[in-house]
Amino acid sequence: MSNEPLRIGVPSKGRLSELAAELLADAGLKYRRQDRDLFARVKAGGGLDGPIDVTFLRTDDIPVLCAEGAIDIGVTGSDLVEEAGVNKAVADRPAVVTRMPLSMGGCRLAVCVPDASPVVTPKDLAGDRIATSFPHVTRAYLNSHGVSCHIVELTGSVEVMIALGVADAIVDLVETGSTLAANKLRILDTIGSYETVLIQNPATKHGALCDQIARRIEGVIIARGYSLLEYNVPEESLAEAEKITPGFSSPTVNRLEEQGWCAVRAMVKRGEVIGVMERLEKLGARAILETAIKNCRL
Ligand code: PRP
Repeated sequence: MSNEPLRIGVPSKGRLSELAAELLADAGLKYRRQDRDLFARVKAGGGLDGPIDVTFLRTDDIPVLCAEGAIDIGVTGSDLVEEAGVNKAVADRPAVVTRMPLSMGGCRLAVCVPDASPVVTPKDLAGDRIATSFPHVTRAYLNSHGVSCHIVELTGSVEVMIALGVADAIVDLVETGSTLAANKLRILDTIGSYETVLIQNPATKHGALCDQIARRIEGVIIARGYSLLEYNVPEESLAEAEKITPGFSSPTVNRLEEQGWCAVRAMVKRGEVIGVMERLEKLGARAILETAIKNCRL
């Protein structure tokens, strides 16, 4: 084991910075950032197999800094990984490894045109000006359609560029669609779907510690996606109830002292819990309880 600390790169500001801090804290990696410090040391102990520093970085720099080995692992967007091109190996640098999606920050990258635009297919964009913060992904997309456009590279506020007369179309992230609606734009085509991911430098000297952190984060992510449902059900309805709550691998079933009744415990996807409870109730289940799971190892 190296004495050098492992470095985790996390976004320095914005919503993703808060979400990353929460995720790491839930995974047992606690740290306090002083003012605008660039580094924070993770509190020692708690079973961690080595010292860890958290580095606060621009979200869009994290893919390149991970590829170059400045950080061992990082939290960033898969859109930024693709735009940086580090998900593919090049002659003097292997590809970064995407360890896992973090079930947050889901969005689409889309080609958008004004509501009133006559453009119908990507081919109709030929010769147009396209404003974007994703020039590489945009060029690859246009090439795949055999279309040549003038790309206006920007770092933000892309959605107003058509109104400013700088562009005919934009390629930008769409989450709820409210930015598009506010700017009277519509989606012409979706280039890809993206989310926040955990990435790792493939040549890290801290492989075992990276595995430990990734495993902890995975436990938190799975736990966040599920609830534990417990209920009592008549034996004759057990088979049907097990179909409704098959659990992560299988439900736990115990006989109750009361003749003809079983107690069942199963993990249920959080978004489906209420519907599942209603179906169980109709089946004759009683004492149906939902419990949030904070962490798990499956
Ligand atoms: C992103 C994107 C859009 C907006 C889309 O901007 O660039 O402007 O979110 O979200 P919506 O579909 O929910 O409206 P972000 O807030 O990340 O800031 P940015 O403009 O600095 O990229």
